[in-house]
Amino acid sequence: MKKLIVVLLALAVVGPFAFAAGGQQAAGGKAAMIGLAMPETHVERWQKDGAALKSDAEAKGYVAEVTYGDADQSKQNQQIQDMLTKGAKLVVIGSVNEGVVSAVADAAKDGVIVIAYDRLITGSGDYDYYITFDNFKVGQFQGGALETALNLKAASSAAPKIITLFAGAPTDNNAKVFFDGAMSVLKPYVDSGALKLVGPAPLSSADSANFTRITTENWRADVAKTRMENLLNSDAKNVVLDGILAPNDTLARAIMEACSSDAKYVDKLPVVTGQDGEIASIQAIKDGKQYMTVFKDTRNLAVATIELADALLKGQTPSIKGARLDTTSYNTGKKIVKSYLLEPVVVTKANFQAVMIDSGYYKATDLK
Ligand code: BGC
Repeated sequence: MKKLIVVLLALAVVGPFAFAAGGQQAAGGKAAMIGLAMPETHVERWQKDGAALKSDAEAKGYVAEVTYGDADQSKQNQQIQDMLTKGAKLVVIGSVNEGVVSAVADAAKDGVIVIAYDRLITGSGDYDYYITFDNFKVGQFQGGALETALNLKAASSAAPKIITLFAGAPTDNNAKVFFDGAMSVLKPYVDSGALKLVGPAPLSSADSANFTRITTENWRADVAKTRMENLLNSDAKNVVLDGILAPNDTLARAIMEACSSDAKYVDKLPVVTGQDGEIASIQAIKDGKQYMTVFKDTRNLAVATIELADALLKGQTPSIKGARLDTTSYNTGKKIVKSYLLEPVVVTKANFQAVMIDSGYYKATDLK
């Protein structure tokens, strides 16, 4: 007992620095600080990202601080400035929009390393590393789900399937990548006439006039719901939609909510895609309402990011387990950044139990 008390006392005195071995020590013997700037909380995943990043950084002996920008870039820039003032050595940024470049430039001036997290920071040449999931593949999974669920291979121009398109925030580079991934699967069916698009019909994000019309400001649910309600009273008024390309779970549920107040869809919703594996969408998948989601395990992204941060802070060459290094594809407009891509996973009614529950991401009791 006495021994235990002595050990506990020693730990209390040394405190968090006990874990800050070797390279984690900043000048003066203090543990180095990592800033974690997340974009928003209204989409569930970011709180998980923030919490996982913080605990992984602390487990490696760093001091970590996490902030959420409330989808407001000037607020996030202020949060990043505060991290720099506090002496952060590295900042992980899930940006709100391109307005973050001034904060990234300030970090670079101070010699602080920036890692773009999940969302590419476009318009900046002041950072070298980007870590995310294979976002084109996320879109391919969404397009592929519509292809399977609507049996597009068997459809023809004589009896086409009908869908409408939604995309994420116009200011988030990921929104373009998701959409282009989905259209890489769907476009051949549009070209052959087997798939009919109702509403604005961009075939790629490069068609910026039409793409803008399907985007959703700041990924906000109310914006998508209102747009869906408007579609149901205009372009989609005289048809029955077979499917809807929805870019993430938050928007998928808002879109389904709009549909469920239309008599046509009360008994049978269109096939709706999603992304993120949010608990309410897993419930909707279990209940047969939402067709699919794409799960991006934020636990893995956090672990990989902190491994990357740790290597960069120690001046080592990163070698990140479970991530593919892409040194050619991600151009910020100023330079090509080294990008680490993790694998997303398709989730439907057939595998949600294994992927989302048995993996420990959610508890069985989280579902009804
Ligand atoms: C992320 C998605 C998320 C969306 C809205 C995207 O950049 O990759 O996982 O659903 O932002 O927050």
